[in-house]
Amino acid sequence: MSNSNKYNNPFQATLTGIKSLFKKGERIGTLSPSDTLSGKKVLITGASSGLGLAVAKDIARLGGEVIMVVRSGIPEKGEEVRRESGSSKITMLYVDLSDFDSINVLVEKIKTEVGPLDVVICNAGVVASTARKTKTGLEEMFMVNYLSSYYFLRLMLKNKLIKEGQPEASRIIVVDSESHRDPAAYNWDAFGTFTPHTMGKTVALYGYYKLLLITFTYELSRRVNRDGFTHSVFSLCPGPVNSNIAREAPPLFQPLIKLVFGIFFRSPEKASEPVVYLAASKSLEGKSFEYLFLMQQKEIDEKAMDPANGKKLWMLSEQLIAQLGYGLN
Ligand SMILES: NC(=O)c1ccc[n+]([C@@H]2O[C@H](COP(=O)([O-])OP(=O)(O)OC[C@H]3O[C@@H](n4cnc5c(N)ncnc54)[C@H](OP(=O)(O)O)[C@@H]3O)[C@@H](O)[C@H]2O)c1
Repeated sequence: MSNSNKYNNPFQATLTGIKSLFKKGERIGTLSPSDTLSGKKVLITGASSGLGLAVAKDIARLGGEVIMVVRSGIPEKGEEVRRESGSSKITMLYVDLSDFDSINVLVEKIKTEVGPLDVVICNAGVVASTARKTKTGLEEMFMVNYLSSYYFLRLMLKNKLIKEGQPEASRIIVVDSESHRDPAAYNWDAFGTFTPHTMGKTVALYGYYKLLLITFTYELSRRVNRDGFTHSVFSLCPGPVNSNIAREAPPLFQPLIKLVFGIFFRSPEKASEPVVYLAASKSLEGKSFEYLFLMQQKEIDEKAMDPANGKKLWMLSEQLIAQLGYGLN
């Protein structure tokens, strides 16, 4: 399944991440004092930890009203954001992204308690030590790292909960990973099928789900803007982040992981820069798609830009969700 073997196992993935930090590239830009989020409603998933928590603080500092969508950390993580940013415009909403019913409840809450959003950031992700079945029988990493974003964003758009253009397009930002380049091909025949795996295969699967995620993100940018420009759809890889992403690695390796992450990986506070730039920079107005690796503009993998793959993924995802009894139309 692997293309380059750069993310084939946890050790290679760590090494690839560290090496990537030393590659030189041109910065897309820097936020200017006029790039505020004042008056903007910004939702972020996975805001209880790592990158998402750091982004929530930055958004609050830039004056945005922050909707922290979390599975844990209510209310203490919201209080932390309030305390460190000095902002009181913080709302917390619960979701378990491995559960369609929970996503339905979240969307209803957004409808009744929050209203249409200016920026939506799909950030939550998981690296599971082993394959776990969700309530509907899907593999948890497949659901959390890919299908939940598809389902959530489609529901949000259907319910007009992401503002449509005029005077400024709203922004949808999806946190991806450079590991999306690693899989050699899509495995359409096994789409949505539960396949048992252990930690050895987890990293390769993670890259595959990030490939699905970025293929969907690119297809979304095509579809939402088909009849006129209404939404900027952005994606990024934050580079290696010293977060809790490796929390399920075997206990024996935890001290080593903490050491390596602490020395070589970027702090969530630093790693948040591309997410916040994509959310707030006025220089990106009018762009329908952009992908950043750290602060550098990059093309995404060719396969993910192919409209035939985008269309196929869109259709298979819709069919799978319908088979599981959750409608989108
Ligand atoms: N760390 C890296 O080196 C790196 C590199 C490239 C891309 N990324 C991406 O960056 C994003 C953020 O990850 P991170 O590094 O900040 O890791 P993290 O510290 O583990 O944060 C992951 C977040 O996702 C949430 N989450 C996981 N499963 C969930 C579920 N079923 N329902 C709702 N929320 C769920 C977690 O909530 P709980 O706290 O409740 O578990 C947590 O808030 C992910 O998309 C990841 O793939 C990370």
